[in-house]
Amino acid sequence: MNEMHPVITVTDDGSHSLFNPELNECYHSKFGAITESEHIFIKCGLLKVSETRSQINILEIGFGTGLNALLTLRATMHSKKIHFTAVELYPIDKQIVKSLNYCDSWDLESYTDYFLTMHQSAWEMDFKVTDNFTLNKIEIDLCNYQPPVNSFDLIYFDAFSPNVQPELWTTAIFQKLYNSLNENGILVTYCAKGIVKQALRDAGFIVKRLTGPPGKRHIISAEKVKM
Ligand SMILES: C[S@@+](CC[C@H](N)C(=O)[O-])C[C@H]1O[C@@H](n2cnc3c(N)ncnc32)[C@H](O)[C@@H]1O
Repeated sequence: MNEMHPVITVTDDGSHSLFNPELNECYHSKFGAITESEHIFIKCGLLKVSETRSQINILEIGFGTGLNALLTLRATMHSKKIHFTAVELYPIDKQIVKSLNYCDSWDLESYTDYFLTMHQSAWEMDFKVTDNFTLNKIEIDLCNYQPPVNSFDLIYFDAFSPNVQPELWTTAIFQKLYNSLNENGILVTYCAKGIVKQALRDAGFIVKRLTGPPGKRHIISAEKVKM
């Protein structure tokens, strides 16, 4: 898989997602891209770690459309300092970015420039999107990425599903992500399959099953707890 040619689709809440024909996979839930991201990554991830931190270091696996970064910026705009690192192997095309409808509605209208800036910013370096939000995008295969240890408070694990990319959902991958988290840091992901929970446990995480967004019974929050 050397190239990806995703196409825009409309999900049930009206927000766009991308469909990847090479993998026959969607970037988000068909029941609502914004609804899903808000529930899993913002409500169950960001708001949880926000309870005890004013400065939050986030790692996202799979930057894709940038939707999670955008919703994170909005949720923390006037309250937290965010350093957002995003790993992505297949950055999406500029024309697709411009066509995504996230800032047309959902109270995101005033975020258009920030959203475009996030996509246009250079890779492999810190870029200040606002005084409080710094983005660092890294173009690399997660399998080859060596995250810094004890560095992140929160990981958005938003890779394609284990059905199509099983190599990204292994104990070895979760082990290096576990090591990259600070104490009491958490990893959130949409996939609650048994093999994923087991791989997370084998890597040292304490795994919790939480209620999912529409169309999904459960999601996972996995914590690095001090032994
Ligand atoms: C389910 S999509 C989610 C993307 C993003 N979080 C969003 O909201 O649009 C998975 C993302 O992982 C990226 N990806 C696929 N294989 C990868 C790999 N080996 N290393 C890093 N990123 C990868 C894809 O290109 C895609 O952007």
